[in-house]
Amino acid sequence: MARKRVAVLISGRGSNMVALIEAAKDASFPAEIARVVSNDPSAQGLERAAAANIPTAAVDHRAFGKDREAFERALQSELEAHGTEFICLAGFMRLLTPWFVTQWKERLINIHPALLPELRGLHTHARALAEGRQWHGATVHFVVPEMDAGPVIRQARVPVLPGDTEQTLAARVLEVEHRIYPEALRLVAEGRVQVVGDACLVDGKPVETFS
Ligand code: GRF
Repeated sequence: MARKRVAVLISGRGSNMVALIEAAKDASFPAEIARVVSNDPSAQGLERAAAANIPTAAVDHRAFGKDREAFERALQSELEAHGTEFICLAGFMRLLTPWFVTQWKERLINIHPALLPELRGLHTHARALAEGRQWHGATVHFVVPEMDAGPVIRQARVPVLPGDTEQTLAARVLEVEHRIYPEALRLVAEGRVQVVGDACLVDGKPVETFS
């Protein structure tokens, strides 16, 4: 079966992008990272993608001022021009409008550093610590118009340990992010994920979640 063409959208360092690129180096992986696109031309991840011989592009949101849809139309042209079938958001820091999200229904995936539906939004590690949580983690999900919502494809948890700082906890979560994002993309690209209502079935079974 032909490998699915995936675009990874980034805004920063791109460590999840690298994890996806590494996984896709295996010829048996069902997706190829065909392109990396950043809304920030200075994103460190663009250099890392180029070093891995992945074509890159920058669509600078600042060129469009407050016109979010104009930015997204430019992004859409970029994605369409290269035959994109799936999009992975990997630290992409722009909110996407319902217009964009609807066009990519069940083909647009995000990773969030928390056990959704808990701790949506920013600063999840600091909030997990402040709330005295025992468990924290990461979630890969399909994107829907509501932020940090959408059917969960894969989730993994890590313990919060005594003495943890935001940095140590973030590092522990990042390790599982780098594992579950390629796993989730594999499942989606192999057509093993079915969305039923607001949840996913994988191979016909409910996804294991920890929230
Ligand atoms: C990750 O923690 C991801 O879960 C969140 O943004 C961060 C991106 O890190 N959405 P990186 O750019 O992949 O290193």
